[in-house]
Amino acid sequence: METGYINGAYLPREDIKISPDDRGFLFADGIYEVVRWYEGEFFDMEGHLQRLKRSLRELEISWPEADSFPAICRKLISVNGLEKSPVLVYIQVTRGAAMRTHTFPSPAVPPTVYAFARSFVPESSGKENGITVMLRDDFRWSRCDIKSVALLANTISFEEATRKGFSECIYTRNGKITEGSHSNIFFVKNNILLTHPESEYVLSGITRKNALAIARNLGIAVKEEAMDEKDLARTDEAFITNTSAEVTPVVAVGTIKIGDGKPGPVTCRIRESFTALTARLKH
Ligand code: PDD
Repeated sequence: METGYINGAYLPREDIKISPDDRGFLFADGIYEVVRWYEGEFFDMEGHLQRLKRSLRELEISWPEADSFPAICRKLISVNGLEKSPVLVYIQVTRGAAMRTHTFPSPAVPPTVYAFARSFVPESSGKENGITVMLRDDFRWSRCDIKSVALLANTISFEEATRKGFSECIYTRNGKITEGSHSNIFFVKNNILLTHPESEYVLSGITRKNALAIARNLGIAVKEEAMDEKDLARTDEAFITNTSAEVTPVVAVGTIKIGDGKPGPVTCRIRESFTALTARLKH
């Protein structure tokens, strides 16, 4: 039986109840984090904690116990007996339950904090052989830097990609490639690693940040600069990053083959270093 977390309590999943007036339900008025447990330790928990706090600040949601996030994640691992499994912990914090008004509740109400931990089987074939992705116009809002639960545009895009046989949907804004529906994207062109700079059009991914650090350590030239859609055919390599896919090569964007259609050497070096980093977390 799965045990989840709700507002300070650890309860069987079926006993967790949320008010129909919760602003997360009514307005998608909340934020979330997804952090990965590597059979011994969490990956960059500090990075996830800082991003969670930033999302809360940007939306003026007050969760005074935000620093308890790592302890909640750890307890969910232990109460569910998941120490030896690959796990994703999901946490969501909403502005809380209040009569429906477009203004924020005044006085403020306590936030709703919900979290669960679930083991999963890490995907491997895409990581080895590469994936194909589709492109579409970015029709999301302009605060993609906030890890908000308002993900309808992302889910519509990912559903479309899946139905068409692609592994991810990548967005473009005014001809520039931003990010994926649930990943960041990198390119290698003329031996330079390129990814969209941090801005209101992309989520500052924790895997992105670590992949950039790895690349710099390996002496790879890095530019946080957006890739032009029209240059895709002249790109040597591409890969996406996120907490579950880690570093996954991209071998085609729509009908455009990337490089020679196989995972490229720079991508493989970064992927290997990333794997070595996470292997050290396993006990
Ligand atoms: N999504 N961009 C978007 C829009 C995302 O939703 C995600 C992650 C990322 C990568 O962030 P990170 O490296 O911190 O996982 C980039 C998570 C995995 C999700 O929604 O489940």
